[in-house]
This record gives sequence, C-alpha cells and structure tokens, in this order.
Amino acid sequence: MKTREIRKVFESVRVIEGAGVRLNRVFGYHETPLFDPFLLLDHFQSDNPDDFMSGFPWHPHRGIETVTYMLKGQVEHGDSLGNKGIIGPGDVQWMTAGSGIVHQEMPHNGQGIHGFQLWVNLPARQKMMPPRYQEINKEFIPETNFDKCLVKILCGQLNGIIGPVQGIPADPMYLDIMVPSDEKLTIPTPSGWTVSIYVYQGTAQFKSGEVVEERNVILFEDGDRITILSGMVALHFLMIAGKPLNEPIAWQGPVVMNNEAEIKLAFEEFHKGTFIKREGGGGS
Ligand code: CO
Repeated sequence: MKTREIRKVFESVRVIEGAGVRLNRVFGYHETPLFDPFLLLDHFQSDNPDDFMSGFPWHPHRGIETVTYMLKGQVEHGDSLGNKGIIGPGDVQWMTAGSGIVHQEMPHNGQGIHGFQLWVNLPARQKMMPPRYQEINKEFIPETNFDKCLVKILCGQLNGIIGPVQGIPADPMYLDIMVPSDEKLTIPTPSGWTVSIYVYQGTAQFKSGEVVEERNVILFEDGDRITILSGMVALHFLMIAGKPLNEPIAWQGPVVMNNEAEIKLAFEEFHKGTFIKREGGGGS
C-alpha cells in the first residue's frame, strides 16, 4: 500500500460567471490537464441574492458532462430536450451534454445557495453521444459510515456500495465526506487515477504536518490510498477521482473537444441553428 503524497494545493479563486454569479473557481481552464478527466469545479455559496439570482441563462454545451450537486437552496433548470426540474439540497443532476444541449440554470428563490458544479470530460469517441440527464433525488444517494466518517456516494463505489449515477464514460468517483473533529480517515483510491479533494469546510491535515484550509483543493501524487486528519472542527470535503483520458483538449467556453476544427464547427453550428442533434433527443 502506498499513501498518496500531496502534489499541489490550489486556492480557489473568486470569479464572476453566467449573468453575474459570484462563485469560487476551484480549478478550471488554467489547470488543464492536471485534473484529467475533470475540467472544472465551481463552488457557489452565498446568502446574498445579489451574488447569484442572475443565474446562468440559456447557453450551450458540447463534449462534456456537467454535474450539479446542491447542499442548500434550489436551482431550476430547463433544456433543449424539453427537460425541466428543480435541483434541491442533497440532489445531484448529472448532465451529459454529448453532441449538444442548450440549457439554463437559475436559482429558484432568494433563500441563499450552496452547491458545486463539476465538469467531467468525455472521451473522444463519446463526445458526440446523445445528450442525457440523470437526476438523482437525495434519498437515492447512499450514505455509508467509513471508519467514524460519513460518506455520501454520488458516483463510483466505496465499500461495495455503488453510487446512483451510472454509465459515465470516465467512470469517476465523486464522494461528499464528513470527518468528525480529531479523527483520521483512509480511503482506497485506484492507482493510476487522478485524485483530488476539495475542502469546503474545516481544515484537512496530514501526517507530514501540512494543513490545508477550506476553499483549497489538493491534487495528489499517485498511490493507492489517501489518509486525512481533521482538526478541531469537523472536516467536510469532496473527493473527486477518475482515470485520466490522456487525450488532447481544445476548450472554448462551454464547449470542450479534441481539436480546434471541432470547436469551430460547434460554434458555426450554434450560429446556424444546427447545434442540437435531434436523433439523440428524448423530448421536443
Ligand atoms: Co451549463
């Protein structure tokens, strides 16, 4: 067994996205391809409606999956397949844009919001797959005790328990973990996979003496487990792990493909009105 060492710690950066939403970018374009197969992680948390009510009006995606996970507040979404619904606290929406989707994501009320959006890359052979939604209500997300910790399995498997989001090409692990104060947690991680954790509350400590504060993400070296200690308060973090795709990345805004010609085509199709491929659709 080899415990993964810390490769690098990144502090999240305050950015403005969508129609004026203030959020923390944990990693994104500038970190490519360090987090391969993951592209971006955003953390939005505010009780001030001015920070988030403008939302993310209609915009396209192609070549990726976007995963929205809410802890507080509600986001209302609608898309070009005719899907619409509300993502509430504890719910996950795993959207596979594939060949193309146009959607919007708007806060449902002004009661404060806390959540995350992760972008997962699609392998070249599946970038143009039919778009798809997996909406998972919180009651279908398994929670398991692991040592003295509480682990919610959004995707992937731990202790033989398999998360509800299935059939994701990158086959990732996405866990929301709570470590009580002054405890230690060891989690097995497949060797060769990219493993990172994002500390969203509390501090993560390591046997090496390193202390990582909240709103920082830790990218690990290779190994087959991670060991984390909490401090004087409970530690909450997301663990994001996946097998790297090791493919070229061409990225412009909400479209991520493998080369510039595919990017150009996507935007040409968007302006011509041929971006949405009906054959994969399941709605109007
Ligand atoms: Co979007």
